Amino acid sequence: MTAIDPERLNHRLEEFAAIGATDKGGVNRQALTEGDRIARRLLADLAIKRGFAVFQDPMANLFIRREGRRGDVPPLLIGSHLDSQPTGGRYDGALGTLSAFEVLESLEDSGEATERAVEVVAWTNEEGSRFSPGCMGSMAFSQGAIPDDWADKYAADGPRFADELQATLASLPQAAMRLLGFPISAYVELHIEQGPSLEAESIPIGVVTGIQGTRWLEVVVSGQTAHAGTTAQAYRRDPMRAATHALNALYDAVMPGDEAARFTIGRISVAPGSINAIPEEVRFTVDIRHPDPAELDRIEAVVVARIAESADRFGCSSRTQRLFDMPPGRFSPDILQTMDRAAAMLGVKTKPMLSGAFHDALFVARVAPSAMIFVPCRDGLSHNEAEYVEPEHVATGCRMLASTARLLASSV
Ligand code: HGY
Ligand code: MN
Ligand code: MN
Repeated sequence: MTAIDPERLNHRLEEFAAIGATDKGGVNRQALTEGDRIARRLLADLAIKRGFAVFQDPMANLFIRREGRRGDVPPLLIGSHLDSQPTGGRYDGALGTLSAFEVLESLEDSGEATERAVEVVAWTNEEGSRFSPGCMGSMAFSQGAIPDDWADKYAADGPRFADELQATLASLPQAAMRLLGFPISAYVELHIEQGPSLEAESIPIGVVTGIQGTRWLEVVVSGQTAHAGTTAQAYRRDPMRAATHALNALYDAVMPGDEAARFTIGRISVAPGSINAIPEEVRFTVDIRHPDPAELDRIEAVVVARIAESADRFGCSSRTQRLFDMPPGRFSPDILQTMDRAAAMLGVKTKPMLSGAFHDALFVARVAPSAMIFVPCRDGLSHNEAEYVEPEHVATGCRMLASTARLLASSV
């Protein structure tokens, strides 16, 4: 049983956390930025030093390959993402990607041969916060094509998607190009739970059986801009009044009473944004989550109707556009069974669980048997610079990934 090197892995996590490091100990390494390119280059160079082959596809998904005995069968794929939230943590994505690389290094150190090749992947733009939607790299991989309407998407900070993608591809000349989408035997992703339950129950490993559904909306409420001092109530068509009226009602209607529902307004902007002018337009995003697709539909309908009602009440108009719709998904019982075997071999306690966060594994599961491994994070905190994972949980998670990978790569 090849041992992983926890010190090397924790050193790697430190090294990558320095790329896009923020003052509060987190990372801002958003998709297709210079920081993302630096992290991808560092991983590619580490891989080349170990004699692994390095590839990227037209979506800039990065692959690192260690050959197996059977080059004629599809490889096992393990990995996660390197991009982060704007005020993200140093483990979200990086833990899974760097642990997967540690698995390759430990196999190489021990000279252990696997039947299948094992490949590590760093998916492009899992977070979706700079360019919507999330999981662009894994979605395109699973479809074998890049949706036509992505090229002219613009980042929250301005640049055009196609330009940033080209610059990212060009920044990694050491990676050989390969087609978008190729057969894999299975996919396993290690990730932090981003929730409190494993820590609360002192369980070191979550065996993730599926992922709840996610839906993103963009809402624009429009009114009439006018003078803040001279315009009496009766003459106002104030989109801020309409939006806040609707949002107050929705905060009271959606989550209370349904433990499984999630409703988040993550981004809001006001135009023209002048201190002494009633706004013309209020624009905001809505993130809805639920394990039951029928509930996602119901909540979305309530959100759209409530906003339209409040807009109408205050003489405004509203329009709502769906940005992202990720139906809930279940992972492969075979892979879950293999993970249970791996846990038994390691003697670690596990808990089956659903993921509240979406992940690339949900899209990869459309083209290959997939599943995920979770480790606890402190206070369940994530998408926050204080995100933290105990080194012992980092090591156990990586051992669980290594043990599962060995079982999956040894069967053809
Ligand atoms: O938003 C999500 O669920 C993921 O963590 N990006
Ligand atoms: Mn993530
Ligand atoms: Mn995330």
